[in-house]
Amino acid sequence: MARAPLLLALLCACAAAAGSANAAGRKMVGVYELKAGDFSVGVTNWGATITSVVLPDSKGDFADVVLGYDTIGGYVSGKSYFGALVGRVANRIANARFVLDGKAYHLFKNDGNNTLHGGHRGFSQVVWTVKEFVGGGDSPYITLYYHSFDGEQGFPGDLDVYVTYQLAAPYVLRVHMNATAVNKATPVNLAQHTYWNLGGQGSGDVLRNTVQLFASRYTPVGGGLIPTGAVAPVAGTPYDFLAPAAVGSRIRQVSGGKAGVYGYDTNYAVDGEPGALRKVAVVRDGASGRALELWANQPGVQFYTGNFLQDVKGKGGKVYQQYGALCLETQGFPDAVNHPNFPSQIVRPGQVYKHDMVFKFSF
Ligand SMILES: *[C@@H]1O[C@H](CO)[C@@H](O)[C@H](O)[C@H]1NC(C)=O
Ligand SMILES: *[C@@H]1O[C@H](CO)[C@@H](O)[C@H](O)[C@H]1NC(C)=O
Repeated sequence: MARAPLLLALLCACAAAAGSANAAGRKMVGVYELKAGDFSVGVTNWGATITSVVLPDSKGDFADVVLGYDTIGGYVSGKSYFGALVGRVANRIANARFVLDGKAYHLFKNDGNNTLHGGHRGFSQVVWTVKEFVGGGDSPYITLYYHSFDGEQGFPGDLDVYVTYQLAAPYVLRVHMNATAVNKATPVNLAQHTYWNLGGQGSGDVLRNTVQLFASRYTPVGGGLIPTGAVAPVAGTPYDFLAPAAVGSRIRQVSGGKAGVYGYDTNYAVDGEPGALRKVAVVRDGASGRALELWANQPGVQFYTGNFLQDVKGKGGKVYQQYGALCLETQGFPDAVNHPNFPSQIVRPGQVYKHDMVFKFSF
């Protein structure tokens, strides 16, 4: 209801901006293209969202390998977080509440009784400011900025947030996120929520892709996909991707978060030292020959197999169905604010949260 005028205003701003920087000090929504040779990435400042990733395959055929929509309006009304930068706290917070330094905070409930991806208007549902944009040259990049205010969706304190998307030859996409707590301690957990289908968006399911996850442990969940608090070995479970395995090989053994739905929606504890950039995952699509290698510095990675996609109208007339893509969202552990044994996500005034991801594509 109250959203309709906002939506309209954004669509008008979008048409007027058409990719150019903001003219009269207003935040215009546009789509910005980064291009390095025949590798290109589209980004919009609506939700700091990746709208396209285009590259060739082994036969020289080009495809856009991420799910998304043809218009900004699609992202505004979409429910799947395609390509978005999610925060202030990605993933779930149980019962939409946490206690920090003795004070209880109550958040917006947008996932049953829980908070998901920062609430009903998290960082994926706001307009970011374009700070810098260099579309071409050796290392094209865009830097987006968002000021999150004290109390936004219930979170404490002002927070300055930046994300930079940068291309490097050959076929490398770097993502740098940082956030500075201005005046209060707050949990921060940003995640990049791109849906990958290396065969091309809308080309069918990813069940025959092979995935390798450099993670010996995962965080089992109970009802509502909330972690039990355990950090359990993957050995001997269908969650074990230490050796490359087809996405679909054991997917029917994994509950997808709702009765009758199968699939991965699982946080893995990435092996090695959090804070250091280390290899997180490798995905290969045999049919196209495309592969993706992901490096990051976060404690965890959410492996999600698009379990809830159903009849979603996407780009170029494609319709997305269950398992039509997979997500690899590096992150802190879900609901860490309510689990003292999980790595802390608290950022205190003057401290800086830093999250780096590197995607290396080959074909
Ligand atoms: C939310 O919490 C209330 C009160 O505890 C409970 O009755 C209700 O079943 C919960 N809803 C869900 C979806 O878990
Ligand atoms: C955060 O990222 C922005 C953009 O990349 C950069 O200009 C800024 O220096 C970074 N801030 C910190 C504290 O690292």
